[in-house]
Amino acid sequence: MLQYMSCRDAAERWNISQRRVSALCAENRIPNVAMLGNMWIIPITAEKPTDARKSNGATATQKAHPFIKWAGGKAQLLDVLKSNLPSDIGRTIKRYAEPFVGGGAFLFSLLEEYSFEEIYISDNNKELMNAYLVIRDNCNELLNTLNALQNEYNGLSTELQEQFYYEKREEFNITELTDKTKVQKASLLIFLNKSCFNGLYRVNKKGKYNVPFGKHSSISICDSENLTKISAILQNVVIKACDYQEVMEFADSSTLVYFDPPYRPLNITSNFTSYTETDFSDKNQIELSELFKALSNKGVKVMLSNSDPKNTNENDNFFDNLYAGYNILRVNASRMINSKGSSRGKIKELLIKNY
Ligand SMILES: C[S@@+](CC[C@H](N)C(=O)[O-])C[C@H]1O[C@@H](n2cnc3c(N)ncnc32)[C@H](O)[C@@H]1O
Repeated sequence: MLQYMSCRDAAERWNISQRRVSALCAENRIPNVAMLGNMWIIPITAEKPTDARKSNGATATQKAHPFIKWAGGKAQLLDVLKSNLPSDIGRTIKRYAEPFVGGGAFLFSLLEEYSFEEIYISDNNKELMNAYLVIRDNCNELLNTLNALQNEYNGLSTELQEQFYYEKREEFNITELTDKTKVQKASLLIFLNKSCFNGLYRVNKKGKYNVPFGKHSSISICDSENLTKISAILQNVVIKACDYQEVMEFADSSTLVYFDPPYRPLNITSNFTSYTETDFSDKNQIELSELFKALSNKGVKVMLSNSDPKNTNENDNFFDNLYAGYNILRVNASRMINSKGSSRGKIKELLIKNY
């Protein structure tokens, strides 16, 4: 059985930053890495990947990738998702919509390979969608603000870094999102995501961001190369902070819609659904399946990811019943059920398609 080490251990062993190790995991550069909760774990036998950013002394260009760490990120399933795209993509499929876009791992990867006449992304997390809009429309201003935050934080002692983090968290929570504050709020969101514990976005019932300090001695939040690339990619993209149901207005028979909703919890320990103040219940999953059917009836191509309840209860037919008649695939996910010995093992996820 494989034994694993944490990103911190790998960083020490390879003499690189923990952040770089996480990035290598997200880029699929280390074989057999897995996700345990929100953390990457790495086989202890893994070797340090050679640095693809440098070849012949020159710096190779990096691909656009998520600017934020987001629970449920699709980095490990990119190949499976791509191999399940409709065959007419780029021909009769000319439009793309992703109404639970989150960190956008699939979006960025897809747009590296395919171009579409129209693209629509949305999520009901208004702070997240504000960040996408600011990256698209105010990228230089954002880079300046991020640079200032980064320099200030990295110049502080550990104690003052903690104080700074909580001051910025408070500033984020009390500042209303308006046209005047949009750049400030996007930069605070990115700062908090990179300096909090485990890169989480989590809010309490009042909608206040409540993740504790992550104790990072230095942070790198101003990735100008990546943010500039994302800004270019987003130029003609429709970006909305709204409920997923609104995709119905955009989608037509030349559209591919990819749904990656908050996963139905497999058990009580995996019920992370607090991206926003409201949770995504079974009732929401049922409503989503109704939209899936309505879109199918309109001739829209639809692909959807979710957890597979059969990992923990083989008699649980919740999704098999909801999506009866559609193409239900069970694909390998590189994450573990939990850290406890007996149930440790790779799990399956659902990939449901109407084609
Ligand atoms: C599994 S995550 C998506 C992860 C994303 N694919 C990624 O790679 O990071 C689910 C997303 O759905 C959003 N969400 C939850 N309820 C929603 C709703 N009713 N309408 C739109 N978005 C919603 C959350 O804010 C979250 O970003």
